[in-house]
Amino acid sequence: MSRFDETFKDEVRAKNDIVEVISSYVKLERRGNRYVGLCPFHGEKTPSFHVIPDLQIYHCFGCKASGDVFKFLQEREHLTFYETLVQLARRARIPLPKEERTPEEEKAYQQRRGLHDALELATRFYHDQLFQEAGKPALDYLYGRGLTEETIRRFRLGWAPGYGRLLRTMRGRFGTEIPQQAGLILPRRTGEGFMDVFFDRVMFPITDLSARPIGFGGRILEGSGAKYKNTADTPLFTKRHVLFGLSQAKEAMRSRNQAILVEGYMDVIMPHQWGVRNVVAPLGTALTDEQCHLLRQQAEQVIVGFDTDVAGQMATLRGLEKLYEIGCDVRILQIPDGKDPDEFIRAHGIGAFEQCVANAVPLVEFKVRRALEASKGTGSKAKAVEAVARVLADLKSDVLREEYVHRVANELADNPLDVRELKLAIDRQMNRSLGAQAGHISSPERHNKVDLGAVRPGGGSQPTSHARFAPPTPQHQIPAAKPVTEEEGALLAERTLLSLLLHHPLLLRSVESSLGPAPFTEPVHQAILASLRELMTGPNAGSVVIARLLDRLADGEARVVVTEIGAKPPVSVDPEKEASDCIEKIKKHRDSRRLDDLHNQIKAAQASGQRVDAAILREYTDLLTKRKTART
Ligand code: UTP
Ligand code: MN
Repeated sequence: MSRFDETFKDEVRAKNDIVEVISSYVKLERRGNRYVGLCPFHGEKTPSFHVIPDLQIYHCFGCKASGDVFKFLQEREHLTFYETLVQLARRARIPLPKEERTPEEEKAYQQRRGLHDALELATRFYHDQLFQEAGKPALDYLYGRGLTEETIRRFRLGWAPGYGRLLRTMRGRFGTEIPQQAGLILPRRTGEGFMDVFFDRVMFPITDLSARPIGFGGRILEGSGAKYKNTADTPLFTKRHVLFGLSQAKEAMRSRNQAILVEGYMDVIMPHQWGVRNVVAPLGTALTDEQCHLLRQQAEQVIVGFDTDVAGQMATLRGLEKLYEIGCDVRILQIPDGKDPDEFIRAHGIGAFEQCVANAVPLVEFKVRRALEASKGTGSKAKAVEAVARVLADLKSDVLREEYVHRVANELADNPLDVRELKLAIDRQMNRSLGAQAGHISSPERHNKVDLGAVRPGGGSQPTSHARFAPPTPQHQIPAAKPVTEEEGALLAERTLLSLLLHHPLLLRSVESSLGPAPFTEPVHQAILASLRELMTGPNAGSVVIARLLDRLADGEARVVVTEIGAKPPVSVDPEKEASDCIEKIKKHRDSRRLDDLHNQIKAAQASGQRVDAAILREYTDLLTKRKTART
């Protein structure tokens, strides 16, 4: 394994979504925050094999098979770790370190490297031009739009002067083939030679996840022509796979578990300048599936700041449905007076924008409102009931559904008597939408796949599939045997604390400061903690902790404990409080054990007629007092 470093492994892991990989072996069905299927490692008829995308791990509650994407493929295909790594790297088209490459791979690798280098050089060139005489109008324009120099430098904004200036800068080092492939120059339409693709434009470099430039957006300063022009697709740059601002936003997206999706380049940059950094934008196209997955990998909540009332809104909504389907909490940002985020922040400040983000409306609510509005035009309550019922029929939570039925009925009703009638009408209509499966209407969990037809105004589409009703999620909790002894209680507290730590590694510091470097008595817990500590000091601390931990732990028992913890995330609303409760229990148990220990020492001393050490006596009395006060 030493042939590959951790970073390489992390990259391979990050680019091979465990759900996708496992899906080609096991038919998985989504259930809440996880996917469930029949375990491929032991024969079974009812599914107990869980894949948890958030943690990028799998765990079988039947046979206890568990691990990350590497482990899965390795066990399933009986490969060595090395073979697994190579296979997954190829799958994700990640070039292997040099000595591992075939001649074709070597060639492809060299080509990609050339493209990267060329794009890096172009980025520097454009950026540099901005601060030259030629770029002065562009720089003034950017300052005029309220950007600071720091922001301009952080996003490496630039100016494309044209006149073949870029071409001449690149030609010496790269010739023309690579810059052409990189989308930087193109053959003249008339006559010989090449010309710059971008000229007279303010340049916005578009980067990959690791901040390397892969393409550009260029904004016209004045005059005619498309306002923005983007690099055409190249071997490095595929518009549908890219989100502008992703490399600058990813940390914030992860730590806040929230992404804000906006439309334009400036809408990403402006919030960023004022400290709201979890913002990205597609490149002037409707949201693609690939972009949805990119978002989901970084955050669970997606706040959509698109103008949802303009042309192309169907395409936008389709994208949002996709986000919802893959497990995002999608909310619609509503910005007053039709401004885009950039304009809004300039007019009202970042605080007002953050307020809008906090008030973003859940997708369902947004759809209900739309359905109501669409049917308002017709003046027919029956139409409204029908439209709303279709939206609500797909809601997975009973509680929420009831709440919305209630609200909608109240809104549509002319008098209190009406409300009841309307509720019944909506219920009936929902049952109709659900067709033969109506009996499931009150099942506690429902697959949240949504029929898009539900929001098509006046559309008569039916839900496309009835297979979406998954049975209630089984609660795979440890049978919560009530701890009898203090010893058992303490062990349970250790396990809970460890689980909290794995899900919130930042708690580590406070745990250590209360319990010292060896907080646990159980050796397995202590071993897992030791690995966690190593991870925390390494690169990418905090990301996919559980999957990376599994990688480090050789001990089978430790691995089982970690996946069990991963498969049963703590339900705590206040992890800090819960951690401190655990810490108290552990401390208390520690004290009792110490008390027993001291008690024995004192007894032994007395039995052999020795004098009891004063320090021991003092500690014993202190602990006894502590215990008494704790009990009263
Ligand atoms: P907008 O026209 O809303 O522009 O396009 P904007 O972002 O507010 O631009 P500013 O504030 O005037 O500079 C939104 C996004 O659509 C894409 C770009 O990605 C742009 O940021 N777009 C727009 C194009 O690709 N081409 C165009 O001609 C216009
Ligand atoms: Mn704008």
